[in-house]
Amino acid sequence: METTYIMVKPDGVQRGLVGEIIGRFERKGLRLVGLKSLIPSEEIARAHYEVHKERPFFPGLIKFITSGPVVCMAWSGVGAIGVARNLIGPTNGRDAPPGTIRGDFGMEIGYNMIHGSDAAETAEFELGLWFPEGTMDWLPDRENWVYE
Ligand code: RTP
Ligand code: MG
Repeated sequence: METTYIMVKPDGVQRGLVGEIIGRFERKGLRLVGLKSLIPSEEIARAHYEVHKERPFFPGLIKFITSGPVVCMAWSGVGAIGVARNLIGPTNGRDAPPGTIRGDFGMEIGYNMIHGSDAAETAEFELGLWFPEGTMDWLPDRENWVYE
């Protein structure tokens, strides 16, 4: 079992895609173990995108991610990090295949609607950053019909 940090970014919230996006993770069979909405502080945004701090797009990215509400989620499942990245699709919506979230709804690298942890270490870091209160420990009954 893995847990991944997923976040609907301000453009996804502004465009009313929250329900659509959450539905895709639910229907896939992942388990929701954390959910909240907030307007990120500059401090948390900078910490989240720390790896990109020297990149030219960093200031714009911080301005964008702090511009309005995001939806912070933690999803668990076998191989959840990779499964979520596959549901999300490549960074630029123009290159993302249909059927992925970015492929179905995105046209820009900057406005790509959703974030997903890219590895076990980043998931651990991001979950600690956005969910310092921890996540839920529970087992949906339906999981007996998701995993053999
Ligand atoms: P994310 O971290 O948000 O899940 O996206 P990702 O792994 O697919 O992309 P990453 O390389 O980690 O980049 C983080 C976010 O920075 C923005 N970006 N803008 N203008 C640009 O050239 C550029 N490159 C990256 C995107 O919003 C990307 O999701
Ligand atoms: Mg990334």
